[in-house]
Amino acid sequence: MGGALSIYEVGLRDGLQNEATPVDVAGKLRLHQALMRAGVSCFEVTSFVSPRAVPQMADCAQVLSKLRDVAGRQAVLVVNERGYERAWAAGARAIALVVVVTETLGQRNSRMSVREALASASRILQRAGRDGLHRRAYIAPAFVCPFEGAVGQDKVLEAADALWQAGVDELAIADTLGHANPLQVGRMFEALGKRYEMARLAAHLHDTQALGLANAAAAISAGVRIVDASIGGLGGCPFAPGAAGNLATEDLVLMADKMGFDTGIDLDGLWTAVGVAGDIVQREVGGRTRDWWHARADRAA
Ligand code: COA
Ligand code: ZN
Repeated sequence: MGGALSIYEVGLRDGLQNEATPVDVAGKLRLHQALMRAGVSCFEVTSFVSPRAVPQMADCAQVLSKLRDVAGRQAVLVVNERGYERAWAAGARAIALVVVVTETLGQRNSRMSVREALASASRILQRAGRDGLHRRAYIAPAFVCPFEGAVGQDKVLEAADALWQAGVDELAIADTLGHANPLQVGRMFEALGKRYEMARLAAHLHDTQALGLANAAAAISAGVRIVDASIGGLGGCPFAPGAAGNLATEDLVLMADKMGFDTGIDLDGLWTAVGVAGDIVQREVGGRTRDWWHARADRAA
């Protein structure tokens, strides 16, 4: 293989939204800076959602005001039109919009039916297009729903068609719960790749069942070149019971390096960022390569 593999860092949003310890703006900026120093350039930095629903993201406008002019992509997550308005007013240049394709999770996460979610998403995407923003849309949960079980591929393809028609720069397929398997992931991206430009598809994976890397490898084998990850494996969804951390950025970059891909990200720098992440959430964090990395670092010392 080889070539470029783009990493979309979600630690500041998907990662921190689930952490019990409140992290202040300075702490978030410190983590962002450590990640930038490691070479990360594509971020989801916060979410414009209800501060009651996700207290950790209550400072979204402040965080964005510090990061909106930084080079690369500093996207913000929105789930509804109110969120889009707030993000636009705060100067967002890139959005990531979540569309939930199962009814129960849709109600819990965004208080919308699937139909309403798709209609609202189309309006937001069209508006964001007119406003000149970079538009990513997530389809979630794309494989297994915590309430309704297996999600049919047809449901995902139908949503993908609607979103593509409304206008997206990037379409992310999310294994929100972290229960997908590599065969499913491969089949999903093969099906999507027949309909859309592969270069604009992204895999968003959680590591609940230790299948994050295997699923990433399957997505990459199917041709995907944008993979989401969260520093230190931070993460989970407060509205999807059982969802554990995201695929860890340091695990993914290690695998990408070994497979001959260029991510532009430096592993040493990434482990410095893991230290910062642990510091601000006040617990030890780190992906599945943590023990190996520390043993290796100890040997080198
Ligand atoms: N930003 C800030 N506040 C918002 C908002 C937004 N984007 N959307 C709705 N609200 C407010 C409402 O105005 C209401 O405030 P109030 O009670 O002070 O008037 C409050 O949130 C709850 O509203 P409610 O009527 O119960 O539901 P809703 O349909 O307005 O929306 C959501 C609730 C969807 C906004 C809320 O559940 C949410 O923000 N969820 C976030 C989900 C998320 O971040 N998931 C993780 C990523 S997928
Ligand atoms: Zn996620």
